[in-house]
Amino acid sequence: MVTGAAGMLGHAVLPALRNAGHQVTALTDLDVTRLEDVRTATLKARPDWVCHLAAYTDVDGCESREDHAMKVNGEGAGNVAAAAAGAGAAILSMSSDYVFAGDDPKPRRENDPTGPLSAYGRSKLAGEQAVRAANPRHAIVRTAWLYGQGGKNFVDTIRARALAGGPLAVVDDQRGSPTWTQDLAGALVQCMVKGAVGTFHATNEGSCTWHEFAVEICALAGANVTVSCLSSAELARPARRPSYSVLDTSRLQQVLGHPLPHWRDALARYLAQPAPVKR
Ligand SMILES: NC(=O)c1ccc[n+]([C@@H]2O[C@H](COP(=O)([O-])OP(=O)(O)OC[C@H]3O[C@@H](n4cnc5c(N)ncnc54)[C@H](OP(=O)(O)O)[C@@H]3O)[C@@H](O)[C@H]2O)c1
Repeated sequence: MVTGAAGMLGHAVLPALRNAGHQVTALTDLDVTRLEDVRTATLKARPDWVCHLAAYTDVDGCESREDHAMKVNGEGAGNVAAAAAGAGAAILSMSSDYVFAGDDPKPRRENDPTGPLSAYGRSKLAGEQAVRAANPRHAIVRTAWLYGQGGKNFVDTIRARALAGGPLAVVDDQRGSPTWTQDLAGALVQCMVKGAVGTFHATNEGSCTWHEFAVEICALAGANVTVSCLSSAELARPARRPSYSVLDTSRLQQVLGHPLPHWRDALARYLAQPAPVKR
């Protein structure tokens, strides 16, 4: 059973599960803040695993709506984990690099101290804690900097602006690991198939700044535009982001037997796909 199935990661997880031969109940309308509805849907689906992707993901919006963020990302995750436990199912629940402060340049391991800088990060951390408390059969997967089909994302935005001739200015003081939802989805399916339990970090390999990422997107898109550098202070977004958001993925590599591909490789494969038809 998949919550938040209509979201960007859902667009990659559903085919990954179905192509691997699994029967999937994809939930697009279930409000995870309504515990009784979540219990009813879970008992009806009778899943082995609940893959919890639903979340309030507007990082800047969370700053002015922290109560809502806590309700959806914190309590909601706990509701889904409890309902899964009640139905005898395990839960895989998504979390974020933003649970860390990222204030020194060291890839974060799963047990490193957390310290979210934003309301979104605090709400995702509350979700992790709620999942651990509600269901011992849990895999909490922290990921970062996602892009993919079926969601507004940085790669599509930069490519479109670059092909329109620019100008482009992108922050160069935040470093992380861009991650294609399709690569991540394959790893999530493996985690469930292998019965992974605990907390895991899952991103494409390597790291870059948003500016370096934008330069690579423009190059691969064949757009000859200048990408200038901005600081986070100049951009002045409502939510603070970690300056160093790289996650150590070695625990996941033990589950999979290999790392996910490098972000440059993933980006090239994503951009080589035909653009989705606009309706
Ligand atoms: N995107 C990233 O860069 C990133 C990075 C790290 C971690 N993550 C985590 O990865 C997971 C998937 O993210 P995503 O990028 O696929 O996000 P997404 O595209 O925003 O999808 C989330 C889905 O959850 C739905 N939703 C919102 N409130 C809900 C509620 N109360 N009950 C049920 N569904 C609700 C959304 O519906 P509406 O669109 O109708 O609101 C949307 O369909 C999330 O847990 C997110 O926190 C994402």
